Amino acid sequence: DFSKENSVLNQFILEMRDVSIQKDSMRFRKNVERIGEILSFEMSKTLNFKTVVVPTPLGNKEMLIPENDLVVCSILRAALPLHNGILNFFDTAENAFISAYRHHPDGGDDFEVIVNYLASPSIEGKILVLTDPMLATGRTLENVLKAFNSHGTPKQINIISIIGAKPGIEYIEKIFPENTHLWIAAVDDELNSSGYIIPGLGDAGDLSFG
Ligand code: PRP
Repeated sequence: DFSKENSVLNQFILEMRDVSIQKDSMRFRKNVERIGEILSFEMSKTLNFKTVVVPTPLGNKEMLIPENDLVVCSILRAALPLHNGILNFFDTAENAFISAYRHHPDGGDDFEVIVNYLASPSIEGKILVLTDPMLATGRTLENVLKAFNSHGTPKQINIISIIGAKPGIEYIEKIFPENTHLWIAAVDDELNSSGYIIPGLGDAGDLSFG
């Protein structure tokens, strides 16, 4: 929960939550993107680093550079600005896109998550970065993980999210492989009976894209 630290990140999260500011969809998308950059920076510290020698005009300098074998996957559609933020920092990452939506069979609170589109390179032995601004019940990520079964086994999974609800985070920690790391900007305590994060910020997809 990076919002517990003092940083400019909290200004961006405030603007996303505040009903009088979040209606500005361009600012909302920009804040999602900026948080994608901040979380990418934090995640980059945990990657494998290799030593390279870089020639400068006046000599050579030894530097540590992160190894970049990332596949960044957006869960459509709210993750698109987050994906942009991550790509701003990982220039050569490969990319995947997956669709997921809640289907309410009887029109009530019960729902199932339907995944019907996945375009991805092989993730075998790579670092899979799953991005979704909201982690509510965790059932979207559960179904996304299942859909990736036929694309290889990653060496590590990183989940990048802006707001996560405690019950969803606990669920993800239970069902995802051990080598999974969560990068969440802010953690909220509750879900309501419809599975929405309380207080959260509303519907991130609608706020970005109408
Ligand atoms: C939202 C959000 C996640 C999902 C989280 O998507 O972007 O994908 O709900 O909920 P869960 O953890 O309970 O599965 P939504 O269904 O609103 O789609 P959208 O991105 O197209 O708006």
